[in-house]
Amino acid sequence: MSESYYEQLFGVRGKVALVTGGTRGIGLMIAEGLVRCGARVYVSSRKVEACEETERALSAHGECIAIPCDISTIDGCQQLADAIAEREDRLHLLVNNAGLTWSAPIDEFHEKAWDRVVDLDMKSPFFLSQKLLPLLRAAASPEERSVIVNISSVNGIKPSGLQNYSYAAAKAGLAQLSAQMARDLIDDHINVNTIAPGPFKSKMTAPLYATPEAEAEVLDRFAMKRWGQMEEVAGLTIMLASPAGAFLTGVEIPCDGGSTSIG
Ligand SMILES: NC(=O)c1ccc[n+]([C@@H]2O[C@H](COP(=O)([O-])OP(=O)(O)OC[C@H]3O[C@@H](n4cnc5c(N)ncnc54)[C@H](OP(=O)(O)O)[C@@H]3O)[C@@H](O)[C@H]2O)c1
Repeated sequence: MSESYYEQLFGVRGKVALVTGGTRGIGLMIAEGLVRCGARVYVSSRKVEACEETERALSAHGECIAIPCDISTIDGCQQLADAIAEREDRLHLLVNNAGLTWSAPIDEFHEKAWDRVVDLDMKSPFFLSQKLLPLLRAAASPEERSVIVNISSVNGIKPSGLQNYSYAAAKAGLAQLSAQMARDLIDDHINVNTIAPGPFKSKMTAPLYATPEAEAEVLDRFAMKRWGQMEEVAGLTIMLASPAGAFLTGVEIPCDGGSTSIG
């Protein structure tokens, strides 16, 4: 292998990527990392202003195009896939990151909260991937596999102490769904992997650091006793999408400072 091959071992330059929920939090961290490393990155979320702001901010570092879309329904997934297909004939990387959580006491947990979470966190990654398979297949070859990265959670691996029943179930299901898809897409040269984040600061986790006491209590549950950083989740996603990650498929990788492995 040449020197230039090794320079691109962790490279995503020239790849086309879509990051759902890429307008804030973990999705924005991943999108920014990909843009800064030279990928053309589509981000999507429901709010038009958030999309416009993200496109403007990330375009300072490279190529970013935002497409507002609600992907909590199959129609929404189809709309987003159609919008990408209007602009691109190939997609190298799909990051299914958009998600929501819900906590309520076990005796009061409502079916609506169950359905909203499961629809966005587990059903939509499947159907968006399904609708984008033609573009993912078009980009894939034995030498350059296309990649789906599903964002699950450490809450899908072990109980968190939060009463987020549908979230924990959806994230555990997402990891198993990823492994199943990885198996079935192996000959299409599409890798499917899951990243299970530990604690990252975002709108979703804002109540967990609303006060210094709350923050200290949360971080005490995690081995490194700190929040994850942008480059840690972006770097892992970039590795999975690069030649260095080509031999990895069907795995769930915790990005949590060791919490699920060493306590
Ligand atoms: N932060 C953590 O510590 C942590 C830990 C473990 C796992 N995770 C997972 O990481 C992912 C991102 O979490 P986060 O903390 O960054 O959450 P966040 O700050 O709430 O961001 C969620 C993103 O998803 C978008 N979104 C929400 N509903 C949507 C819908 N129906 N259609 C399209 N986009 C939608 C939001 O934008 P709009 O409001 O504009 O739609 C936003 O861009 C989630 O899957 C979450 O479960 C996070």
